[in-house]
Amino acid sequence: MSILTETYTLSNGVEIPKLGLGTWLIADDKAAAAVRDAVEIGYRNIDTAQAYGNERGVGEGIHTSGTPREDLFVSTKLAAEIKDYDQAVAAIDGSLAKLKLDYVDLMLIHSPQPWNDFRGGDYAEGNRQAWRALEDAHSAGKLRAIGVSNFEQHDLENILSSGTVTPHVNQLLVHAGNTPTDLLAYCDGRNILVEAYSPIAHGEILNNPDVAAMAEKYGVSVPQLCIRYTLQLGTVSLPKTANPEHMRSNAQVDFVVSDSDMNALRNLHARDYGDASVFPVYRGK
Ligand SMILES: NC(=O)c1ccc[n+]([C@@H]2O[C@H](COP(=O)([O-])OP(=O)(O)OC[C@H]3O[C@@H](n4cnc5c(N)ncnc54)[C@H](OP(=O)(O)O)[C@@H]3O)[C@@H](O)[C@H]2O)c1
Repeated sequence: MSILTETYTLSNGVEIPKLGLGTWLIADDKAAAAVRDAVEIGYRNIDTAQAYGNERGVGEGIHTSGTPREDLFVSTKLAAEIKDYDQAVAAIDGSLAKLKLDYVDLMLIHSPQPWNDFRGGDYAEGNRQAWRALEDAHSAGKLRAIGVSNFEQHDLENILSSGTVTPHVNQLLVHAGNTPTDLLAYCDGRNILVEAYSPIAHGEILNNPDVAAMAEKYGVSVPQLCIRYTLQLGTVSLPKTANPEHMRSNAQVDFVVSDSDMNALRNLHARDYGDASVFPVYRGK
C-alpha cells in the first residue's frame, strides 16, 4: 500500500493523510500547478497558510485537479499576528474566500506569538481569543478540524484552560536533527496529532554526511529516509517541493528504519539551517 493512501484518525474522527505537500515558498502563480501535479501523483493532503500568500493558487489547484473536493484534505493557518477574536473570525472567512472553498479540513493558529516576537512576549489572552474563533468556525462547519502550530506545552495548556475543544493537531518543527521528544510525548498523551514541518530540515539535512551514509545503507535518498523517520515517529510528514520528480520519490517510503537507526536519528542534533536561519522558526529559541 502506498503511503499516499494511508491516514491517521484525529481525535474527532476526521481522517488525515499521513503524507502531505508543504507549499511554503511556492509562489501564488506556481501553486496551482504544484497542487495539480501533487494530486495527479496521488497526494491528498495539501498544507498552506495565510502567511504563504498562495491560498488563491492552492485553491485553484484544488478546483482544477480533477479530484473531488471531499477526497482532498486542505489545511491553512491563521496568521501569527492575529490575536483578536473579531480579526480571527474575519481572517478565517478570508481564507475560505481566497481558497474558494466552503470548508477547510484543518486550520491552525500559525504561531503562539507574532513572527516579529517569536518565543517572546505573553500572548495568552490573544491566543485564547483566536482559539475561540477557530472553535466557533469549527462548530459552524467551516473547519472540519482545528489545531495549532509551534505551540509549546505551556501554550497548549493556555488553550486547554479555557477552550472547549482540545486542539486536534500541533504542527511542529520535527526532523532528523531536531526531535522534540518531550513535546511529542505531551501531545501524544492528549491525543493531539503532531504534523512534522520541514521534515527535510528545509533542505539543509541533504548536506549531512551521517544521514547520507544511513540513507545509502537502506538504498534510499536522504529525503526518503527523513520522511520515513517522521512517519515512524507517528507524525504527519509535510515535505515541500514543486518538483514532480521529488513529489514522486518523496512518496516512495515503503521501507522500515530499524529501532537502532530511529534512536540514532532521534538523538541527532543538526540545527544549522544555513541562509534560512533568518526565519524565526529556525532561530532555535
Ligand atoms: N507551521 C510552520 O511554522 C511551518 C514552518 C515551516 C514549514 N512549514 C510547512 O512545512 C512544509 C515543509 O517545510 P520546508 O518547506 O521548510 O522544508 P522541507 O520540506 O524540509 O525541505 C524543502 C527543501 O527540500 C527540497 N527537496 C524536497 N524534496 C526533495 C527531494 N526529493 N530531493 C532533493 N531535494 C528535495 C526542496 O527543494 P525542491 O523544491 O527543489 O524540491 C526544498 O529546498 C512547508 O512547505 C510548510 O507547508 C510550516
